[in-house]
Amino acid sequence: MAQIVMVDDEPYMLEASARILRQQNREWETRPFDNGREAWEHLQSHSADVVLTDLRMPGMSGMELVRRLRDHEDTHDLPIVVLTGSKDIEEKGQALDIGATDLLSKPIHPVDLFARIRNALRLKGYQDQLKSRNSVLEHVVHERTLELQASRREIIWRLSRAAEFRDENTGLHVIRVAEYSRLLALNLGQSSEFAETLFLAAPLHDVGKIGISDLILFKRGPLTESEREIMKTHCKIGEQILHASPPKQHGNQYDSSASTDELQGFEPDPVLRMAQQVAAAHHERWDGTGYPRGLVGAEIPLVGRIVAVADVYDALTSERPYKRACTTEAAVEIMKPECGRHFDPDIFAIFLASLPEIERLRSSYSETC
Ligand SMILES: [Fe+2]
Ligand SMILES: [Fe+2]
Repeated sequence: MAQIVMVDDEPYMLEASARILRQQNREWETRPFDNGREAWEHLQSHSADVVLTDLRMPGMSGMELVRRLRDHEDTHDLPIVVLTGSKDIEEKGQALDIGATDLLSKPIHPVDLFARIRNALRLKGYQDQLKSRNSVLEHVVHERTLELQASRREIIWRLSRAAEFRDENTGLHVIRVAEYSRLLALNLGQSSEFAETLFLAAPLHDVGKIGISDLILFKRGPLTESEREIMKTHCKIGEQILHASPPKQHGNQYDSSASTDELQGFEPDPVLRMAQQVAAAHHERWDGTGYPRGLVGAEIPLVGRIVAVADVYDALTSERPYKRACTTEAAVEIMKPECGRHFDPDIFAIFLASLPEIERLRSSYSETC
Protein backbone atom coordinates (compact mmCIF):
# COMPACT_ATOMS: atom_id res chain seq x y z
CA MET A 1 0.00 0.00 0.00
CA ALA A 2 1.40 3.41 -0.97
CA GLN A 3 2.14 5.61 2.04
CA ILE A 4 1.34 9.31 1.62
CA VAL A 5 2.53 11.66 4.36
CA MET A 6 0.47 14.86 4.42
CA VAL A 7 1.50 17.98 6.33
CA ASP A 8 -0.72 21.01 6.80
CA ASP A 9 -1.50 23.19 9.82
CA GLU A 10 -5.12 23.57 8.70
CA PRO A 11 -7.11 20.51 9.85
CA TYR A 12 -9.76 21.14 7.24
CA MET A 13 -7.21 21.00 4.37
CA LEU A 14 -5.72 17.78 5.73
CA GLU A 15 -9.07 16.11 6.02
CA ALA A 16 -10.26 17.26 2.60
CA SER A 17 -7.09 16.18 0.81
CA ALA A 18 -7.11 12.79 2.54
CA ARG A 19 -10.74 12.24 1.58
CA ILE A 20 -10.07 13.11 -2.08
CA LEU A 21 -7.11 10.75 -2.29
CA ARG A 22 -8.91 7.87 -0.57
CA GLN A 23 -11.84 8.25 -2.91
CA GLN A 24 -9.54 8.12 -5.92
CA ASN A 25 -7.53 5.11 -4.87
CA ARG A 26 -8.16 2.71 -2.00
CA GLU A 27 -4.58 1.45 -2.24
CA TRP A 28 -3.27 4.76 -0.95
CA GLU A 29 -2.81 5.17 2.78
CA THR A 30 -2.65 8.74 4.10
CA ARG A 31 -0.76 9.78 7.23
CA PRO A 32 -1.70 13.34 8.31
CA PHE A 33 0.45 15.71 10.43
CA ASP A 34 -0.49 19.25 11.44
CA ASN A 35 3.15 20.41 11.74
CA GLY A 36 6.48 19.89 10.03
CA ARG A 37 8.40 18.68 13.09
CA GLU A 38 6.13 15.71 13.78
CA ALA A 39 6.19 14.74 10.09
CA TRP A 40 10.00 14.97 10.11
CA GLU A 41 10.24 12.79 13.23
CA HIS A 42 7.81 10.25 11.75
CA LEU A 43 9.89 10.03 8.56
CA GLN A 44 13.03 9.26 10.56
CA SER A 45 11.66 5.85 11.45
CA HIS A 46 8.93 5.13 8.88
CA SER A 47 9.13 4.76 5.16
CA ALA A 48 6.88 6.79 2.85
CA ASP A 49 6.29 6.91 -0.88
CA VAL A 50 5.41 10.58 -1.23
CA VAL A 51 5.18 13.68 0.97
CA LEU A 52 2.55 16.34 0.37
CA THR A 53 3.34 19.45 2.39
CA ASP A 54 2.12 22.97 2.89
CA LEU A 55 4.87 25.60 3.02
CA ARG A 56 3.63 28.11 5.55
CA MET A 57 3.20 26.50 8.92
CA PRO A 58 4.11 27.57 12.47
CA GLY A 59 7.19 25.87 13.90
CA MET A 60 9.04 23.89 11.23
CA SER A 61 7.98 25.32 7.85
CA GLY A 62 7.40 23.24 4.74
CA MET A 63 10.62 24.73 3.26
CA GLU A 64 12.61 23.49 6.25
CA LEU A 65 10.99 20.07 6.03
CA VAL A 66 11.89 19.77 2.32
CA ARG A 67 15.46 20.91 3.04
CA ARG A 68 15.90 18.33 5.79
CA LEU A 69 14.42 15.51 3.73
CA ARG A 70 16.73 16.34 0.83
CA ASP A 71 19.79 16.42 3.10
CA HIS A 72 19.05 13.02 4.67
CA GLU A 73 20.47 10.00 2.85
CA ASP A 74 17.32 7.90 3.38
CA THR A 75 14.93 10.52 2.00
CA HIS A 76 17.07 12.57 -0.39
CA ASP A 77 15.13 11.28 -3.41
CA LEU A 78 11.69 10.88 -1.81
CA PRO A 79 9.09 12.62 -4.05
CA ILE A 80 7.75 15.78 -2.35
CA VAL A 81 4.73 17.70 -3.64
CA VAL A 82 4.54 21.21 -2.22
CA LEU A 83 1.38 23.26 -1.74
CA THR A 84 1.93 26.94 -2.57
CA GLY A 85 -0.08 30.11 -2.77
CA SER A 86 -1.07 30.33 -6.42
CA LYS A 87 0.24 33.89 -6.91
CA ASP A 88 3.56 33.58 -5.10
CA ILE A 89 5.99 32.91 -7.98
CA GLU A 90 9.08 33.55 -5.86
CA GLU A 91 7.99 31.00 -3.28
CA LYS A 92 7.40 28.41 -6.00
CA GLY A 93 10.88 28.94 -7.43
CA GLN A 94 12.42 28.66 -3.99
CA ALA A 95 10.57 25.39 -3.30
CA LEU A 96 11.83 23.89 -6.57
CA ASP A 97 15.36 25.14 -5.85
CA ILE A 98 15.57 23.28 -2.57
CA GLY A 99 14.32 20.07 -4.12
CA ALA A 100 10.51 19.92 -4.28
CA THR A 101 9.49 17.38 -6.92
CA ASP A 102 6.27 19.11 -7.91
CA LEU A 103 4.06 22.07 -6.99
CA LEU A 104 0.37 22.31 -6.34
CA SER A 105 -1.37 25.68 -6.12
CA LYS A 106 -4.02 26.51 -3.57
CA PRO A 107 -6.95 26.25 -3.71
CA ILE A 108 -6.50 22.59 -4.60
CA HIS A 109 -8.62 21.03 -7.27
CA PRO A 110 -9.28 17.28 -6.68
CA VAL A 111 -8.21 16.33 -10.23
CA ASP A 112 -4.89 18.20 -9.87
CA LEU A 113 -4.23 16.67 -6.46
CA PHE A 114 -4.90 13.15 -7.75
CA ALA A 115 -2.72 13.67 -10.87
CA ARG A 116 0.22 15.11 -8.93
CA ILE A 117 0.17 12.37 -6.30
CA ARG A 118 -0.22 9.61 -8.91
CA ASN A 119 2.77 10.96 -10.89
CA ALA A 120 4.87 11.28 -7.75
CA LEU A 121 4.04 7.67 -6.82
CA ARG A 122 4.98 6.47 -10.31
CA LEU A 123 8.29 8.28 -9.95
CA LYS A 124 8.85 6.56 -6.60
CA GLY A 125 8.02 3.19 -8.21
CA TYR A 126 10.64 3.72 -10.95
CA GLN A 127 13.21 4.83 -8.38
CA ASP A 128 12.57 1.70 -6.28
CA GLN A 129 12.88 -0.56 -9.35
CA LEU A 130 16.16 1.09 -10.31
CA LYS A 131 17.52 0.72 -6.78
CA SER A 132 16.63 -2.95 -6.57
CA ARG A 133 18.17 -3.62 -10.01
CA ASN A 134 21.31 -1.77 -8.93
CA SER A 135 21.57 -3.76 -5.74
CA VAL A 136 21.13 -7.04 -7.68
CA LEU A 137 23.84 -5.90 -10.08
CA GLU A 138 26.15 -4.90 -7.22
CA HIS A 139 25.61 -8.32 -5.67
CA VAL A 140 26.40 -10.08 -8.95
CA VAL A 141 29.55 -7.98 -9.47
CA HIS A 142 30.65 -8.71 -5.88
CA GLU A 143 30.10 -12.46 -6.39
CA ARG A 144 32.00 -12.45 -9.69
CA THR A 145 34.87 -10.50 -8.11
CA LEU A 146 35.15 -13.07 -5.32
CA GLU A 147 35.10 -15.91 -7.86
CA LEU A 148 37.79 -14.20 -9.90
CA GLN A 149 39.96 -13.66 -6.82
CA ALA A 150 39.50 -17.30 -5.80
CA SER A 151 40.47 -18.56 -9.24
CA ARG A 152 43.53 -16.28 -9.29
CA ARG A 153 44.59 -17.67 -5.90
CA GLU A 154 44.04 -21.18 -7.20
CA ILE A 155 46.21 -20.55 -10.28
CA ILE A 156 48.94 -19.04 -8.11
CA TRP A 157 48.84 -22.05 -5.81
CA ARG A 158 48.98 -24.46 -8.77
CA LEU A 159 51.97 -22.57 -10.17
CA SER A 160 53.87 -22.92 -6.90
CA ARG A 161 52.96 -26.65 -6.86
CA ALA A 162 54.41 -26.92 -10.40
CA ALA A 163 57.65 -25.30 -9.19
CA GLU A 164 57.95 -27.86 -6.40
CA PHE A 165 58.46 -30.61 -8.95
CA ARG A 166 61.62 -28.77 -10.01
CA ASP A 167 63.08 -28.79 -6.55
CA GLU A 168 64.47 -31.10 -3.96
CA ASN A 169 62.11 -29.52 -1.45
CA THR A 170 58.81 -31.05 -0.56
CA GLY A 171 55.53 -29.14 -0.74
CA LEU A 172 55.82 -28.40 2.95
CA HIS A 173 58.87 -26.17 2.36
CA VAL A 174 56.86 -23.52 0.50
CA ILE A 175 54.04 -23.70 3.04
CA ARG A 176 56.45 -23.20 5.94
CA VAL A 177 58.22 -20.32 4.17
CA ALA A 178 54.80 -18.76 3.55
CA GLU A 179 53.81 -19.20 7.22
CA TYR A 180 57.11 -17.82 8.59
CA SER A 181 56.97 -14.88 6.17
CA ARG A 182 53.41 -13.97 7.17
CA LEU A 183 54.34 -14.15 10.86
CA LEU A 184 57.47 -12.01 10.40
CA ALA A 185 55.48 -9.42 8.40
CA LEU A 186 52.86 -9.16 11.15
CA ASN A 187 55.49 -8.97 13.92
CA LEU A 188 57.27 -6.25 11.93
CA GLY A 189 54.04 -4.22 12.22
CA GLN A 190 52.87 -4.63 8.65
CA SER A 191 49.12 -4.69 7.97
CA SER A 192 47.24 -7.99 7.95
CA GLU A 193 46.43 -7.35 4.25
CA PHE A 194 50.16 -7.09 3.47
CA ALA A 195 50.90 -10.23 5.51
CA GLU A 196 48.13 -12.23 3.80
CA THR A 197 49.35 -11.14 0.36
CA LEU A 198 52.88 -12.21 1.31
CA PHE A 199 51.53 -15.55 2.56
CA LEU A 200 50.17 -16.20 -0.96
CA ALA A 201 53.20 -14.74 -2.78
CA ALA A 202 56.05 -16.37 -0.81
CA PRO A 203 55.47 -19.96 -2.13
CA LEU A 204 56.43 -18.67 -5.59
CA HIS A 205 59.93 -17.57 -4.54
CA ASP A 206 61.63 -20.37 -6.52
CA VAL A 207 59.16 -20.59 -9.41
CA GLY A 208 62.04 -19.61 -11.73
CA LYS A 209 63.58 -23.07 -11.22
CA ILE A 210 61.07 -24.19 -13.85
CA GLY A 211 63.50 -22.64 -16.34
CA ILE A 212 66.67 -24.35 -15.06
CA SER A 213 68.01 -27.45 -16.82
CA ASP A 214 67.45 -30.82 -15.09
CA LEU A 215 71.15 -31.54 -15.49
CA ILE A 216 71.96 -28.67 -13.15
CA LEU A 217 68.91 -28.81 -10.93
CA PHE A 218 69.20 -32.51 -10.11
CA LYS A 219 72.98 -32.84 -10.41
CA ARG A 220 74.51 -35.02 -7.70
CA GLY A 221 77.55 -33.39 -6.17
CA PRO A 222 78.70 -29.77 -6.19
CA LEU A 223 77.95 -27.40 -9.07
CA THR A 224 80.73 -25.89 -11.15
CA GLU A 225 81.15 -22.12 -11.19
CA SER A 226 79.30 -21.77 -14.51
CA GLU A 227 76.50 -24.08 -13.32
CA ARG A 228 76.13 -21.96 -10.20
CA GLU A 229 75.79 -18.86 -12.39
CA ILE A 230 73.05 -20.58 -14.40
CA MET A 231 71.35 -21.64 -11.16
CA LYS A 232 71.34 -18.01 -10.03
CA THR A 233 69.25 -17.06 -13.06
CA HIS A 234 66.20 -18.67 -11.41
CA CYS A 235 65.52 -15.28 -9.75
CA LYS A 236 65.24 -13.39 -13.04
CA ILE A 237 63.37 -16.26 -14.70
CA GLY A 238 60.86 -16.21 -11.81
CA GLU A 239 60.54 -12.44 -12.14
CA GLN A 240 59.81 -12.81 -15.85
CA ILE A 241 57.27 -15.59 -15.31
CA LEU A 242 55.40 -13.42 -12.82
CA HIS A 243 55.77 -10.17 -14.75
CA ALA A 244 52.41 -8.50 -15.30
CA SER A 245 51.93 -8.68 -19.05
CA PRO A 246 48.70 -10.15 -20.34
CA PRO A 247 49.27 -11.63 -23.80
CA LYS A 248 47.65 -9.73 -26.67
CA GLN A 249 45.98 -11.72 -29.37
CA HIS A 250 46.57 -11.36 -33.12
CA GLY A 251 44.02 -13.60 -34.82
CA ASN A 252 44.74 -17.03 -33.41
CA GLN A 253 48.29 -16.08 -32.34
CA TYR A 254 49.27 -14.78 -28.92
CA ASP A 255 52.06 -12.29 -28.47
CA SER A 256 53.32 -11.86 -24.90
CA SER A 257 55.52 -8.83 -25.68
CA ALA A 258 52.93 -6.19 -24.82
CA SER A 259 54.46 -2.71 -24.58
CA THR A 260 54.11 -0.38 -21.61
CA ASP A 261 51.52 1.67 -23.51
CA GLU A 262 49.47 -1.41 -24.22
CA LEU A 263 49.57 -2.37 -20.54
CA GLN A 264 48.21 0.99 -19.39
CA GLY A 265 44.99 0.46 -17.48
CA PHE A 266 45.87 -3.18 -16.79
CA GLU A 267 45.93 -3.71 -13.04
CA PRO A 268 48.05 -6.74 -12.11
CA ASP A 269 46.93 -8.95 -9.25
CA PRO A 270 48.52 -7.72 -5.98
CA VAL A 271 49.66 -11.24 -5.12
CA LEU A 272 51.39 -11.68 -8.48
CA ARG A 273 52.97 -8.24 -8.18
CA MET A 274 54.36 -9.11 -4.74
CA ALA A 275 55.38 -12.62 -5.88
CA GLN A 276 57.39 -11.01 -8.67
CA GLN A 277 59.32 -8.96 -6.09
CA VAL A 278 59.86 -12.02 -3.90
CA ALA A 279 61.13 -14.14 -6.81
CA ALA A 280 63.46 -11.35 -7.92
CA ALA A 281 64.85 -10.40 -4.50
CA HIS A 282 64.95 -13.45 -2.20
CA HIS A 283 68.69 -14.03 -2.84
CA GLU A 284 69.72 -10.40 -2.44
CA ARG A 285 71.85 -9.75 0.65
CA TRP A 286 71.73 -6.79 3.03
CA ASP A 287 75.45 -5.99 2.41
CA GLY A 288 75.01 -5.90 -1.39
CA THR A 289 76.81 -9.19 -2.18
CA GLY A 290 73.64 -11.04 -3.19
CA TYR A 291 72.14 -11.64 -6.61
CA PRO A 292 70.79 -11.00 -9.19
CA ARG A 293 71.16 -7.22 -8.82
CA GLY A 294 73.48 -6.78 -5.84
CA LEU A 295 71.00 -4.43 -4.16
CA VAL A 296 72.07 -2.97 -0.80
CA GLY A 297 70.04 -2.60 2.45
CA ALA A 298 66.63 -0.99 2.00
CA GLU A 299 67.05 -1.05 -1.80
CA ILE A 300 66.02 -4.70 -1.49
CA PRO A 301 62.21 -4.93 -1.44
CA LEU A 302 60.95 -5.65 2.10
CA VAL A 303 59.26 -8.87 0.96
CA GLY A 304 62.57 -10.12 -0.44
CA ARG A 305 64.34 -9.42 2.88
CA ILE A 306 61.59 -11.22 4.85
CA VAL A 307 61.50 -14.30 2.62
CA ALA A 308 65.34 -14.49 2.69
CA VAL A 309 65.27 -15.07 6.47
CA ALA A 310 62.33 -17.51 6.29
CA ASP A 311 63.86 -19.47 3.38
CA VAL A 312 67.33 -19.87 4.94
CA TYR A 313 65.88 -20.86 8.32
CA ASP A 314 63.67 -23.50 6.67
CA ALA A 315 66.50 -24.82 4.51
CA LEU A 316 68.69 -25.26 7.61
CA THR A 317 65.98 -26.91 9.72
CA SER A 318 64.81 -29.27 6.94
CA GLU A 319 66.21 -32.66 6.11
CA ARG A 320 67.66 -33.14 2.61
CA PRO A 321 68.92 -36.32 0.94
CA TYR A 322 72.48 -35.17 1.67
CA LYS A 323 72.05 -33.62 5.14
CA ARG A 324 70.21 -33.90 8.41
CA ALA A 325 67.91 -31.17 9.72
CA CYS A 326 69.45 -28.65 12.15
CA THR A 327 67.73 -27.87 15.40
CA THR A 328 66.43 -24.30 15.72
CA GLU A 329 69.29 -23.51 18.14
CA ALA A 330 71.88 -24.76 15.64
CA ALA A 331 70.20 -22.91 12.76
CA VAL A 332 70.17 -19.67 14.74
CA GLU A 333 73.88 -20.07 15.56
CA ILE A 334 74.62 -20.46 11.84
CA MET A 335 72.42 -17.50 10.91
CA LYS A 336 73.55 -15.03 13.62
CA PRO A 337 76.87 -14.04 11.97
CA GLU A 338 74.83 -13.23 8.84
CA CYS A 339 72.82 -10.52 10.62
CA GLY A 340 73.77 -7.26 8.84
CA ARG A 341 75.55 -9.25 6.11
CA HIS A 342 72.94 -11.52 4.56
CA PHE A 343 69.95 -10.45 6.65
CA ASP A 344 68.29 -7.12 7.42
CA PRO A 345 69.19 -6.54 11.14
CA ASP A 346 65.66 -5.34 12.02
CA ILE A 347 64.04 -8.37 10.44
CA PHE A 348 66.56 -10.68 12.05
CA ALA A 349 65.80 -9.17 15.48
CA ILE A 350 62.08 -9.79 14.90
CA PHE A 351 62.91 -13.31 13.71
CA LEU A 352 64.77 -14.02 16.99
CA ALA A 353 61.90 -12.58 19.03
CA SER A 354 59.43 -14.72 17.05
CA LEU A 355 61.25 -18.04 17.49
CA PRO A 356 58.68 -19.59 19.86
CA GLU A 357 55.90 -18.95 17.30
CA ILE A 358 58.14 -20.07 14.42
CA GLU A 359 58.91 -23.30 16.28
CA ARG A 360 55.20 -23.96 16.73
CA LEU A 361 54.59 -23.42 12.99
CA ARG A 362 57.55 -25.65 12.15
CA SER A 363 56.23 -28.53 14.25
CA SER A 364 52.73 -28.26 12.72
CA TYR A 365 54.19 -28.60 9.19
CA SER A 366 56.85 -31.17 10.06
CA GLU A 367 57.86 -33.65 7.30
CA THR A 368 57.71 -36.52 9.77
CA CYS A 369 54.15 -35.91 10.99
FE1 LIG B 1 65.80 -19.38 -4.64
FE1 LIG C 1 63.06 -22.01 -0.90
